[in-house]
Amino acid sequence: PEVITVQELANRMAEKATDAIRVLMKMGVMATINENLDQDTAEIVVTELGHTPRRVSEADVEIGLVGEQDDPADQQPRPPVVTIMGHVDHGKTSLLDALRSTDVASGEAGGITQHIGAYQVNLPSGARITFLDTPGHEAFTQMRARGASVTDIVVLVVAADDGIKPQTIEAINHAKAAKVPMIIAINKIDTPGANPERVRQELLQHDVQVEAMGGDVLDVEVSALKRTNLDKLEDAIILQSEVLELKANPNRAAEGVVVEAKLEKGRGPVATVLVARGTLRVGDIVVAGGEWGKVRALIDERGQQLQEAGPARPVEILGLNGAPSAGDAFSVVESEARAREVCSYRQQQIRKRRQFVAPTSIEGMFTQLK
Ligand code: GTP
Ligand code: MG
Repeated sequence: PEVITVQELANRMAEKATDAIRVLMKMGVMATINENLDQDTAEIVVTELGHTPRRVSEADVEIGLVGEQDDPADQQPRPPVVTIMGHVDHGKTSLLDALRSTDVASGEAGGITQHIGAYQVNLPSGARITFLDTPGHEAFTQMRARGASVTDIVVLVVAADDGIKPQTIEAINHAKAAKVPMIIAINKIDTPGANPERVRQELLQHDVQVEAMGGDVLDVEVSALKRTNLDKLEDAIILQSEVLELKANPNRAAEGVVVEAKLEKGRGPVATVLVARGTLRVGDIVVAGGEWGKVRALIDERGQQLQEAGPARPVEILGLNGAPSAGDAFSVVESEARAREVCSYRQQQIRKRRQFVAPTSIEGMFTQLK
């Protein structure tokens, strides 16, 4: 059963614990600040103190989803978020670099030049794809372990001259466990030893059936080095994302996930976030993990300042008072008081987690952010 201490409840309302205790006394409940209250009692206290009670599950608090769910009518199509995975040396970094160069909208901004942990490519069709620029399994598993799954599609890179290797299998298992669809990029088809057919056969042994094998997993033969078939790979990603019907409500307070964060000389704490829903704007008050701040600037992967960032857009935030951790949720809140309240609650949780929580299974902690 969900319980909350008087102190925590007061913190979340930004009220004094003694005021909460006074309300409880009026109700005939003698409580100390460490007393656990059930949800019904807590709701009465909240209402009595002039606030609107909002029941929040533990998972919600964990990833910061304390707002209401979006009405399907408010949802609009959004770009897919893609993570590239694969065995060592199969060409993850090369493919990310090659895909980056396919952006058609860079113009005078001079292309995607900043490595901010994620970038968005504009296709000739007008469609957009967001790539997480942190290849490897750590980013994926770390985010999932933190309860945030931002990846819609995994592109599994398999070198055509090397075939399925241990980390390929690991990636397949991660994607399957997360129920994230895969697209197979059979890379290095320019090499003399390339044998794409063997890759398709080997995938079969790991329960991955590409279309040519009678399954529904999309596969594309590419060369990151020669930039062959990158458009076909992007088409496959768009096709897959249409099947997934990815949508988000852009017209609400922004929420999302921190992709990376660091302290930079001269810039202070810089966090790259991915907006999951809503639109983030300069001047918004943001809570990210245990940190908060007023957004001073939003900067994209071209080094350009933005006024706003909508769903699936990666963007750097300047103005936080500290660097959150990768995988932390962020959300826009209505006031600085609310930001302080949420942060103090989060920091309390962070301290508690450090004290008591041993790592449990990643599966158990998995919660969809979508
Ligand atoms: P790790 O980050 O170490 O796991 O490797 P990675 O998967 O990021 O591979 P990376 O992109 O660093 O490529 C490894 C090597 O393969 C480099 O020498 C690349 O130049 C080469 N390579 C990548 N893609 C291709 C390709 O399409 N064709 C050929 N011939 N070589 C490629
Ligand atoms: Mg690499």
